[in-house]
Amino acid sequence: MKRVDDFRLRFGKRELVPIVIGGMGVDISTRELALEAARLGGVGHISDAMLPTVTDRHYKTKFVSTKQKQYKLNIEKSDKSIVQFDLAQVAESTRLHVSKTMEAKHGDGMVFINCMEKLTMNAPKETLRVRLNTALDAGIDGITLAAGLHLGSFALMEENPRFRDAKLGIIVSSLRALQLFLRKNSKLGRLPDYVVVEGPLAGGHLGFGMDWAQYDLRTIVAEIQQYLREEKLDIPLIPAGGIFTGSDAVSYLETGSAAVQVATRFTVAKECGIPAKVQQEYFKTSEDNIEVNMLSPTGYPMRMLKNSPGIGAGIRPNCEAYGYILDANGNCSYIDAYNREVALHPDAKKISVKDKMCLCTHMRNYDCWTCGHYTYRLKDTTHRNADGTYQILTAEHVFKDYQFSTDNKIALPPHP
Ligand SMILES: Cc1cc2nc3c(=O)[nH]c(=O)nc-3n(C[C@H](O)[C@H](O)[C@H](O)COP(=O)(O)O)c2cc1C
Repeated sequence: MKRVDDFRLRFGKRELVPIVIGGMGVDISTRELALEAARLGGVGHISDAMLPTVTDRHYKTKFVSTKQKQYKLNIEKSDKSIVQFDLAQVAESTRLHVSKTMEAKHGDGMVFINCMEKLTMNAPKETLRVRLNTALDAGIDGITLAAGLHLGSFALMEENPRFRDAKLGIIVSSLRALQLFLRKNSKLGRLPDYVVVEGPLAGGHLGFGMDWAQYDLRTIVAEIQQYLREEKLDIPLIPAGGIFTGSDAVSYLETGSAAVQVATRFTVAKECGIPAKVQQEYFKTSEDNIEVNMLSPTGYPMRMLKNSPGIGAGIRPNCEAYGYILDANGNCSYIDAYNREVALHPDAKKISVKDKMCLCTHMRNYDCWTCGHYTYRLKDTTHRNADGTYQILTAEHVFKDYQFSTDNKIALPPHP
């Protein structure tokens, strides 16, 4: 009976344990989590979502308060189009987070950064260019292009001296999205080094419509595999979404996938950024309490726990401090929904916005409990403590369980 450890992810001569911990914003896949994956010989991700905010928390920078002060006079206004990021500060936050992470790296694995196109930051092309190139300059091993089609992202890095040596990959949820990407980038003479194929059971935003339940990961992976074979393209495929046990992973590796990308099992590891109290909500949850909804102002469906405190909250948009989802014209659908409710209830002290969520604020505060479909199975991966809480795991334990388990078994952690 094969184990994940019987396979290797190959990048040229480099061989890795074929386990990739997926990027989870905002700072859910922390540098500590990514570094554990690298130490154990696999691939970990940090996330580039809201990095000025994240570096304020970890490295005592003052990017958020500086921006908020600069746009103080705009706070009461509904038009947010003047609220721009200072590109030098965006660069500095990326440089800090990436370089501090890479300096601390040990072991044979790699650390990549997950970069979401849908974080349009009121200047999509300019901010993305800075984020991508600064991550390369600061020594990241690779970049995973996520949440969006990223048709122009390779071109934004073309002049970078590391464009051909860093590992660059893309997440797609359909063959069509991959074909579009390859066609658009055919002139650059550089294929992606890997393609993550993310199915409908993943956490975070989904690359499907609300008909996500009609799709399945195995079918999409098989379609893409066949296409790459026909086109004689040798690009490692990395399925993601709902791969919960080592045996699930082996079933993909045996049929030609190069590695698997996993995330949900690590949301209850101590190295993960989700606060311990919220991790208990992940453990406790039932299948009925997990939904895919359209609350994210990015326009993509997103999976989350129904009891997330951010759902229905009618907080004032916080774009002067954050503003990561403002589109190229300074709009965000949460602002529209908020203004509508304020107009409908002019005398109310507190309003509720039910159809959209202020994702920046609630992700930043860990009040949007995004999760994978199988979060309800996390309780089966650990022990129940005497007080009814669940025992938090270590990333090493979860990683090694994926790496060495057989027969769909999940090893419980040693008692503390
Ligand atoms: C809490 C959470 C947050 C996530 N955030 C992101 C993100 O910011 N960007 C992204 O590309 N994928 C995100 N994902 C998706 C994961 O990187 C991964 O591809 C997927 O969840 C794998 O499926 P699994 O969770 O069933 O193992 C997130 C997943 C989870 C569980």
